Amino acid sequence: MILILDFGSQYTQLIARRIREAHVYCEVHPYNLALEKIRALAPRGIIFSGGPASRYESGAPDVAPEVLELGCPVLGICYGLYVIAHHLGAASAGARAREYGPATLDIEVADPLFDGLAGRQHRVWMSHGDRIERLPEGLVAIAHSDNSPYAAVRSRDGRLRGIQFHPEVAHTPIGAQVLRNFAIEICGEPGDWTMANFIETKVAELRARVGEDERVVMGLSGGVDSSVAAALIHRAVGDRLKCVFVDTGLSRAGERERMEQDFARAIGIDLRVSDAAELFIDRLDGVLDPEQKRRIIGHTFIDIFEREAAALGGARFLGQGTLYPDVIESVSFKGPSATIKSHHNVGGLPERMRLELIEPLRELFKDEVRELGRELGLEAAIVDREPFPGPGLAVRIVGEVTRERLDLLRRADAVVMDEFASSPRREEPLWQAFAVLLPLKTVGVMGDGRSYESVIAIRAVESSDGMTADWARLDPAFLARLSSRITNEIRGVNRVVYDITSKPPATIEWE
Ligand code: XMP
Repeated sequence: MILILDFGSQYTQLIARRIREAHVYCEVHPYNLALEKIRALAPRGIIFSGGPASRYESGAPDVAPEVLELGCPVLGICYGLYVIAHHLGAASAGARAREYGPATLDIEVADPLFDGLAGRQHRVWMSHGDRIERLPEGLVAIAHSDNSPYAAVRSRDGRLRGIQFHPEVAHTPIGAQVLRNFAIEICGEPGDWTMANFIETKVAELRARVGEDERVVMGLSGGVDSSVAAALIHRAVGDRLKCVFVDTGLSRAGERERMEQDFARAIGIDLRVSDAAELFIDRLDGVLDPEQKRRIIGHTFIDIFEREAAALGGARFLGQGTLYPDVIESVSFKGPSATIKSHHNVGGLPERMRLELIEPLRELFKDEVRELGRELGLEAAIVDREPFPGPGLAVRIVGEVTRERLDLLRRADAVVMDEFASSPRREEPLWQAFAVLLPLKTVGVMGDGRSYESVIAIRAVESSDGMTADWARLDPAFLARLSSRITNEIRGVNRVVYDITSKPPATIEWE
């Protein structure tokens, strides 16, 4: 396996993607992972990611010197390059020299990192604030760019390498090959890792962790992630997995039936349905702040899980379908990346629970989860379902969540689902398409005699991982049909708008 040590770059997960695309297993851990844990992982190679810090500030994130002496090859990317250079004695060799955007890499010395690349010059993407002015003794330059005399370096013994550019982003066309070369040519990974291997590894790991007698309770949200996680845990521990579908009253139309029939019955999972809509809606009464909604929903989920787990005769573990993008958006720096929002299924809540978390998909991206689901034999209807946020329609109602507003949104959203389901298949399937209810009239007076009417926003986005997204360029005739169906069929809606904002700057959900 390849170990990726994360120094907080927003691109770290893309490094993991590229390595996995080369059929090499890798894991991402914080840069300060303890040495004994690194040894226990026995990586064949280590990658230091980029990061937002400057190596020339005091207290900059760093690794213990022993990490560079484990004997396996190391590749430092951007900030990771400075970490290596610093350990080899480049302490005072840095200068702030910002360089953002495209650059031309000029390869000076043949190196296995560049195997299979045609020609010397290649377009690469730079994004750094420092550069090395003078190489320490132990390093030699193998490539330069206009602004970086040391755009790629390697140690004299050929074990350590550093690159100034970002090979993981799409703007570096040779990047996938460079990372593949590192993993396969330099580290000697066989490149035969597949989803079938992943299942085998995870099933063994889950069996070891859960043991022979303990039980796992798991909440199914109806989304792909929790469904696939449940199928995987079920493969490992069989009937000792007890699934609960919490009917929060916040799901899309028809969700409960889909979970009972298409999922649980199809794969033989023991599913208990907990009717909790009243409780959720009561607790959300009068709450406007989206983060507070998420917290209330998260806490209520946990309360119900605990109650259900107890009713099932007790369970020690709680299964969750947390994915890597959920993790990276919820961990604050030192662990990596800035907190964007608290996904209900990750941050803050485990300490309230008396259950231990099991998150077998934590390292995976959405498309990998879908592949895993197919490999586990799940139907396309489940595996290809669009992502749905844990807090459900509550984050698609801007403002107060009431029974009436939920009902209105659910009916408008059902029209959206229906229209998209029957629209011609797109070359690139949409990531998500849904309705959002806006608080354009005074909050709390919905259904009031003055009959202010509501605005529904339609959001339809293309994305490969939910981290970035672009609004779908839909056919105007299709949009017109959506609008007229919603305004005609849903009492209380007199206006439909289409969201034409990408992510960033907007998020996908309106919250
Ligand atoms: P945003 O709104 O942050 O959403 O652009 C990115 C993707 O994540 C989904 N999402 C969630 N998924 N639990 C989840 O499992 C959550 O709490 C949650 N909130 C947002 C969202 O639907 C989009 O696909």
